[in-house]
Amino acid sequence: MKVITSVTQMHAVAQQYAKDGTLGFVPTMGYLHEGHGSLIERAVQENDRAVVSVFVNPTQFAPGEDLSSYPRDLEKDLAFCQSLGATAVFHPEPNEMYGPNFAAIVEVPSLTVNLCARARPSHFKGVCTVVAKLFNIVAPTRAYFGLKDAQQFFILRRMVLDLNFPIELVGCPTVREADGLAMSSRNSYLSLTERKAAPILHKALEEGRALILAGEKKRAPIIDKIQRVLATEPLVSLEYVELVETLGLRQTDEITGEVLCALAARIGTTRLIDNFIFS
Ligand code: PAJ
Repeated sequence: MKVITSVTQMHAVAQQYAKDGTLGFVPTMGYLHEGHGSLIERAVQENDRAVVSVFVNPTQFAPGEDLSSYPRDLEKDLAFCQSLGATAVFHPEPNEMYGPNFAAIVEVPSLTVNLCARARPSHFKGVCTVVAKLFNIVAPTRAYFGLKDAQQFFILRRMVLDLNFPIELVGCPTVREADGLAMSSRNSYLSLTERKAAPILHKALEEGRALILAGEKKRAPIIDKIQRVLATEPLVSLEYVELVETLGLRQTDEITGEVLCALAARIGTTRLIDNFIFS
């Protein structure tokens, strides 16, 4: 497995790969877990070669967020990627990706109004900009993203369609711990007590989903149910729970097509997200 730190070299190697087969790509910020692993496995299975990027992208963190404390373990990540059969890992330094005069921004404004964008207004500009750069550098056939970050997936799907990136985006199901907690690099911030409380996020969403399965179509009772379940756990501080349609990510009062029900909450100081998609 190659480990590449330069943009020019990554571009050249990826061009070479693309000449004789398909290329799968999994962008990550590292500290890899089985959630990332499920994406890498698919990229390896479904393509002739697979590239994983490990880059803690500074532009998607606002001042005061956890950029400096974001967990990192490159050696472990490299061993993990190798064990899953990745062909190369791209691991650039921040100044390799963002030179001193860097000024471009890619954004999808209408999809960055609701959900996580309310509390993190600049976050998705950073995500779109870095993913657009990575897509140009790696030029993969397919790129794999987790639906755990559903808003990110729907925004990037729009970006790819609107800007004509010739790349197939593949959305992969959320991988969970045995007790239902969605795997996340940020779970490592949780204390033991907080970790015990955290599965309530998934449990609350499951109760909301059960209401829908039982025939409920209106937004209010579904959101109310989820909020009431979350209120039983004093360690949870809810940031939002919303029901939106998946094309424009606009709030929906009644379910008529595919919807995303998503939440963000703090457990102690750790901000966690989870969701389900109903279609
Ligand atoms: P990161 O949080 O490292 O996640 C990388 C990819 O792994 C994303 O597509 C994310 O949705 C997916 N993922 C994370 N946890 C998952 C889980 N439990 N199950 C399934 N997939 C999971 O998302 C980012 O990095 C960044 O924003 C990035 C796209 C790399 C741009 O910097």
